[in-house]
Amino acid sequence: MSIISKDISKAVELLNKEELVAIPTETVYGLAGNIFSKKAIASIFKTKQRPKFNPLIVHIPNVEYLDKIVEHIPEKAKALANAFWPGPITLVLKKKASIPDLITAGKDTVAVRIPNHPVSLKLLRQLEFPLAAPSANPFNRISPTSAQHVEDYFKDTIKMVLDGGVCKKGIESTIIGFKNEEPIIYRLGSTSIEDIERIVGKIEIKNRKSKVENPDAPGMLERHYAPKTKTILTNDLSNSIEEFKNQRIGVLLYNNILNDEAIDFKIVLSEDNNLEEAASKLYDALHQLDKQNLDIIIAEQLPDYGLGKSINDRLERATKN
Ligand code: TXA
Ligand code: MG
Repeated sequence: MSIISKDISKAVELLNKEELVAIPTETVYGLAGNIFSKKAIASIFKTKQRPKFNPLIVHIPNVEYLDKIVEHIPEKAKALANAFWPGPITLVLKKKASIPDLITAGKDTVAVRIPNHPVSLKLLRQLEFPLAAPSANPFNRISPTSAQHVEDYFKDTIKMVLDGGVCKKGIESTIIGFKNEEPIIYRLGSTSIEDIERIVGKIEIKNRKSKVENPDAPGMLERHYAPKTKTILTNDLSNSIEEFKNQRIGVLLYNNILNDEAIDFKIVLSEDNNLEEAASKLYDALHQLDKQNLDIIIAEQLPDYGLGKSINDRLERATKN
């Protein structure tokens, strides 16, 4: 029997009983539990097989709630929250003592955001606690952008996926931390750097480093978001196709300019060069490619600006050995 359901009151009931529910957001589906329940938080880590050092994002229903979670809000954090919430920006701020160490992996900061999805906002408003929700995929696998993706991963381990349709943005939130009141990007994501800089000015990027190199952003492991099929990233498609022509090849293209007999399966992210559309389709494309029994997935590098930067970041992580 399917675990996918639109019943918000059932989700409320399960969450109140310290169970997990996968929830829709505008970025990707999250695997949600009560931040104050040891049982729920432990089962988030267990279900995802996520390393304990990797902290969780707290999802809140409105800006006023932020004061209950964090000690201090830098001016530029306020400006970002006002500009982008509800929406795909996560702020990492000094946490209140009441926020459990389990959530923050022992750090004195907590990551928090307001998701921009009517179903999850409605759910959050009906709960007496915020929701911790990492992306609803097993550790190191592709993030889910539909209820079906989550069911495929977790039908035997969780009781419910709250159906909110296909995620509109399709890649995770942009994560921003602060040092001496100044913002730093820890993870590229669904809000572009250009849009962020319009609010706070030039911003430092500390994306993509191992835990040891970059203890401020412990989840930024190099290999991540990965299909099971061997995947490579290229800016010279014809050459890469030539190199693997005797194997079963799948290609992931930005736009549809390529036809080559050696290609067995092809997905185009945006026929009319739209980076927002490409971002929204990226993970579903990787899920589909991964199901085709290919020997290799060849992904084309996207233009390196706007959401193209975030998409390239995910593709680079998906293709690390
Ligand atoms: O769009 C999203 O952000 C989705 C949806 C469900 O909200 N969530 C998501 O969560 O992508 P997750 O757990 O897959 O990624 C959260 C990232 C991890 O890399 C984690 O290391 C980082 O946020 N993070 C969480 N708390 C942090 C903290 N206190 N300091 C630095 N990084 C933190
Ligand atoms: Mg994740």
